[in-house]
Amino acid sequence: MGLSLTKSGLRKSYAKVNLHLQIGERREDGYHDIFSLFHLVDLCDDIEITAVPHGTGRITIRGMKGIRERDNIMWKAASLFLSSVKATADDISITITKRIPLGGGLGGGSSNAATVLLTLNEMYGTPLTEQSLAELALSVGSDVPFFIYRVPVAVVEGRGEVITPLKARGDLFGSIVLPLSEGISTAQAFRKLDERKEMTLIPRSLYTYNKMCHMYNQPVSEWLFKNDFRSVVEGYSKKYTELYSIAEKRTDLFGTVSGSGATFIFVGEEAEFQGELTKEFLKGATQDINISIKYLNNLPANDTVILETSK
Ligand code: C5P
Repeated sequence: MGLSLTKSGLRKSYAKVNLHLQIGERREDGYHDIFSLFHLVDLCDDIEITAVPHGTGRITIRGMKGIRERDNIMWKAASLFLSSVKATADDISITITKRIPLGGGLGGGSSNAATVLLTLNEMYGTPLTEQSLAELALSVGSDVPFFIYRVPVAVVEGRGEVITPLKARGDLFGSIVLPLSEGISTAQAFRKLDERKEMTLIPRSLYTYNKMCHMYNQPVSEWLFKNDFRSVVEGYSKKYTELYSIAEKRTDLFGTVSGSGATFIFVGEEAEFQGELTKEFLKGATQDINISIKYLNNLPANDTVILETSK
């Protein structure tokens, strides 16, 4: 299957935060089972894709300096898609406007890869079902399937392929804090967690899908969500301990590290905290700490894909 005309698509690629993240034992395949609450946020990258039929099968990526094209997760996604639809002679060019920090635990790369799969699938006339796209997505990365389903909130289990959506509250505000000047490697964070053998810190029985739904709908002051990577990131920098203590002092806020770090997120029900928090946090902060304030609500459920056909 191929294209007869050149097509372009433009799409927003949203980040996620993990409000809760538990990690199981290391499996035989080297991965870990997770039990997590994923929440999309309105921080996004823009991705523009052009597909030209009957070319040389070249995939080009613009806008990601410092990462070799073939090492980019979007390259892998595009290449797998083209093989699946037997269109390996088509040329694909991807241009990304990057805003989601790398190595931040915000799923930026995973979201980008899912966006490439979804956009290409639309451009090629939806040859793959959502289920097939999700399977391709899992072979690209563990967090990629979540972004295929385009749900704002979900409990995510297995390696990342078991996704059970929840209804988004829509009344949440968030602040995303970047305490380190560099990101944290997911693989390295998992290795450190294995070394620490602290994976059983949170009893699994305390958290079920129903309990997650119930807790998510409680005031954030009552949230008891946890992240098993807490001790790992606290080992990286004492800034995380400071952030957890700010969150614990503020009864109107919930705070946690997202994913395996490096970002820390604060969530509240009133937007006002964002400005106050910036001041409070910056008081004791060093220069290299950046803060970006993002809303967790008002997310477009279905952002529009612009498809153009040219000669
Ligand atoms: O799947 P992904 O390529 O994003 O994973 C990066 C690394 O993180 C894996 O190689 C593995 O070491 C670790 N990982 C894991 N269990 C998961 C997800 C990731 O051990 N569920």
